[in-house]
Amino acid sequence: MNIILLAPPAAGKGTQASLLTKKYGFKHISTGELLRKSLEANDAVSLEIKETMQAGKLVSDAIILQLIEKEFLVAEQGIILDGFPRNKTQALKYAELLTSLGQEIDYVFYLAVPKAVAMERIFGRRTCPSCGKIYNSRALENKEKCMDCNTALVKREDDTEETFDLRYETYIKETSPLIAFYQEQGLLYEIDASLSTEEVFASIEKVLSKESE
Ligand code: AP5
Repeated sequence: MNIILLAPPAAGKGTQASLLTKKYGFKHISTGELLRKSLEANDAVSLEIKETMQAGKLVSDAIILQLIEKEFLVAEQGIILDGFPRNKTQALKYAELLTSLGQEIDYVFYLAVPKAVAMERIFGRRTCPSCGKIYNSRALENKEKCMDCNTALVKREDDTEETFDLRYETYIKETSPLIAFYQEQGLLYEIDASLSTEEVFASIEKVLSKESE
């Protein structure tokens, strides 16, 4: 099973991917997370990646495709892609990769959310640097530690108003054309992601259960 979560920044891709992984045992591949991990190398490439992310732009396709191919080689079960593909080149390369593996895309969930809602969500986001769990400060009630592994939570460096605006612009220009691209292939399912986390998850599950009937 190959699922793509396509959405603007902070729409809830990571949150929904974690819920799907927990329930169905899929492998969650987040290119944003992979890139943040790669920054630990602290070399020239990671510096370039950091600057690009801070500027809200897309990291080069060559770097992204290398990361994705590595993850696919070790994936044995269904895959949920969170944050990939993000432009037409990546979408075409991904289609090629799947064809070479004798696989295909099963669902593309487009998590639709107005910019203002996404922006509000982003300012409250806290993440666990150890296990990657995503929180929102509204639901944390002043707790600053991860409920699963007790690590101190952090705010992402790119969760500022300025960077959010740049990321959103990049999304509109480079990623949103993929909505029509996948719609034309009959793979797109639009989900109202302005609803609560549970309601969004229920909408995704409804599609999955209907299609498997
Ligand atoms: P990435 O890490 O993918 O960032 P993003 O796309 O901007 O998405 P986010 O991770 O910010 O948000 P999300 O949709 O996962 O929302 P979340 O679940 O956390 O990418 C970062 C950067 O890396 C990019 O800008 C780019 O530079 C680079 N990059 C990544 N992939 C690339 C690629 N393929 N090619 C080139 N460059 C690439 O939720 C957000 C908050 O909202 C949380 O606090 C959460 O608790 C809360 N929340 C979630 N759902 C709900 C809900 N339904 N109701 C209320 N609150 C909610």
